[in-house]
Amino acid sequence: MPIEIIPTGAAVGAEIRGVDLAQPIDDVSFATIERAYNEHGVIFFRDQHITPPQQVAFTRRFGEIEFNIFGERWSVAGSPEIVVVSNITEDGRPIGVRRAGENWHSDMCYTARPPRGTMLYALETPDLHGLPLGDTEFASAQAAWEALPDRMRHRIEGRQAVFDFTGRKRAFPPTQTEIDRNPPVRHPIVRTHPCTGRECLYVMRDDCTGIEGMDAAEAEALIAALAEHIIKPAFIYRHQWRAGDLLMWDNCTVQHRAIQDYDMPRRRLMHRTTMGGAVPT
Ligand code: SIN
Repeated sequence: MPIEIIPTGAAVGAEIRGVDLAQPIDDVSFATIERAYNEHGVIFFRDQHITPPQQVAFTRRFGEIEFNIFGERWSVAGSPEIVVVSNITEDGRPIGVRRAGENWHSDMCYTARPPRGTMLYALETPDLHGLPLGDTEFASAQAAWEALPDRMRHRIEGRQAVFDFTGRKRAFPPTQTEIDRNPPVRHPIVRTHPCTGRECLYVMRDDCTGIEGMDAAEAEALIAALAEHIIKPAFIYRHQWRAGDLLMWDNCTVQHRAIQDYDMPRRRLMHRTTMGGAVPT
């Protein structure tokens, strides 16, 4: 079956058809998928049936697996590369990370080499009378940059922001060891995508705690204004999950947030893998 790429019609996202991720993917097909991923920022495959090792192997085609803090607490038995994201509790204990990513963010932006991208494989998805809940929204930081007026572009080009692991409130507060392992880092506010060469805004509320060479109050106001700009409706694709979806996003091109509009007994179970990236430039 030929591979079809169907853009969502929103600022980001495309569905890929004609690929069975449980089967080996030849280099030509993989190159088509990777081009679509770079171009659309978010791609997804419906109706997949893959095992944890198959998800890990597919992730590795895009880059080395990145382990994050949650994997140490909630990974899949036998596949430490996969983090369980879920609201389910068994025997009174959560089986995965709850309320993961409920505020707008780009994954692990507080590290010196933030991951290239992240993959979520949906095993169980919640619904209300058959209507999907637990969507994920993606905002195009590239379209947001392109829509900025020249005056604002000149004001922020070449600027570096401080990204601080402790800036974001998490449902599971990090330990002191995790905080010590993640000291504040600096990244450009305007990033160049390593594959497409396109520019993207790289600013988020909470994670960004300052801008170099700018006084604190001015930086806070500018970060808030840019963070709000990125999440304007014109730049957003909202994904309605179905069990069997495998979706991946690019952490330079998009920011994302998970909508927490469900709870038990409605179950949501995702397997997440993350692929290593480069130092932002
Ligand atoms: C995340 O931010 O990694 C979680 C996204 C989701 O569960 O929809």
